[in-house]
Amino acid sequence: MFLWIKAFHLIAVVTWFAALFYLPRLFVYHAMTDTTDTVGIARFKVMERKLLNGIMTPSMIIAVALGIWMVMLVPDYMSQGWMHAKLTFVVLLIGYHHWCMKIVKTFRNDANHRSHVWYRWFNEAPVIGLFAITILVIVKPF
Ligand code: HEM
Repeated sequence: MFLWIKAFHLIAVVTWFAALFYLPRLFVYHAMTDTTDTVGIARFKVMERKLLNGIMTPSMIIAVALGIWMVMLVPDYMSQGWMHAKLTFVVLLIGYHHWCMKIVKTFRNDANHRSHVWYRWFNEAPVIGLFAITILVIVKPF
C-alpha cells in the first residue's frame, strides 16, 4: 500500500515539475511577443491557462495530498530533520506556484510590464527546489 502511494506521489511530483518549468518558459515567450500580434498573444493565454488549471494545480494537490497520507501512515517521518528541511522547500515551491498563478492573471489582463530576461531568471527558481528536495529525500543527510 505505502509503495503504491509513493509511486503515485512521484508521478504527481514529476508532472508538477514539468509544469513548474514550462509555464515560466511560456511567460518568457509571451513577454517577447509584440503587442500587435493578437493571435499569438491569445494563443499564449490559452496555453498558460490550460497548463496551470489542467496539469500544474491538480499535480500539486495530488503530490501534497499523497505526501501527507504517507506521513500519516508513518508519523515518525516528522521526527526526522531531512523531512523538516524538505517541507520547508515544499512550502517555498507552493509559494512559487501561487506567484505563477498571479502572473497568469496579469498576462490575461494584458498588464505585464516585466521583461523576458526577468522571466528567464524567474524560470530558474524551481531548479533549486528540485535539487534540494531530491537530495534531501534520497541522501537524507540529517
Ligand atoms: C507536503 C508535501 C510532501 C510530503 C508530506 C511528502 C512526504 C513524503 C514521504 C513521507 C515520502 C517517503 C519517504 C521515504 O520513504 O523515504 C516521500 C517520498 C518522496 N518525495 Fe515527497 N512529500 C511531499 C512533497 C514532495 C515534493 C514537492 C517532492 C519533489 C520535489 C517530493 C519528492 C519526493 C521523492 C523524490 C520521494 C522518494 C524518496 C524515496 O526514494 O524513497 N515530495 N515524500
